[in-house]
Amino acid sequence: MIIAIDGPAGSGKSTIAREVARRFCFDKLDTGAMYRAVALSALDRGVDLDDEPAVDDLANTISIRFPPREGSTTRIEVDDVDVSDAIRTPRIDSCVSKVAAYPGVRTAMLTPQRAFAEGRDVVAEGRDIGTVVFPAADIKIFLTADPAERARRRVLQRHEDDDLTLDDLADEVQRTLDAIRRRDELDSSRDVAPLTAAPDAVEIDSTAHTIDEVVTMIADLIQERRGA
Ligand code: DC
Repeated sequence: MIIAIDGPAGSGKSTIAREVARRFCFDKLDTGAMYRAVALSALDRGVDLDDEPAVDDLANTISIRFPPREGSTTRIEVDDVDVSDAIRTPRIDSCVSKVAAYPGVRTAMLTPQRAFAEGRDVVAEGRDIGTVVFPAADIKIFLTADPAERARRRVLQRHEDDDLTLDDLADEVQRTLDAIRRRDELDSSRDVAPLTAAPDAVEIDSTAHTIDEVVTMIADLIQERRGA
């Protein structure tokens, strides 16, 4: 069974995909991490992000792997080097959309994404899972949330180990909101595989729902589908 979860940055896809995968013992595929890994590799190797053919080449050359999980966090390796933390920085946040808009990069990511799901049950999250990567997915979810709420969640997640309040973090929330809006615009307006709901996707607005509530909605859809 393939469950596709698409939606904008900070809509809760990762957390929700992780919890659905845990409940049903599915494997989770984080496709955003793959685009982040391409952006990081380009920066590390001094490839100019505006040089589309060079970035395409790089995407075709590097080997991206998801080693077995330790605990609940997904690990990702590029050419056997763990980059799980290095891909989650504001620097990568701000440049990954450029790399993800290159058709050559997207094509390079398709094969490993589809290979990942061969012969297993998968919850895959991204922007084009239900439209391009797995158009025949058994269940498609398009998860949205109000941008201000998404910025708030992102910042709280970043600071989950700090002793700071939302008031202390107000400036960072505003900067994150601006960055989220820019990224939404880039991801939704690009020519290839833009962020959009598949016609047969179930749209869930998570602004007013807890993670548990959204997970339960998806779990119900999976049970329904299994019983069908
Ligand atoms: O979900 P995320 O924030 O880790 O995604 C990082 C970037 O990759 C985001 O700008 C959109 C892009 N992306 C994409 O274009 N297609 C996907 N299937 C997943 C992510």
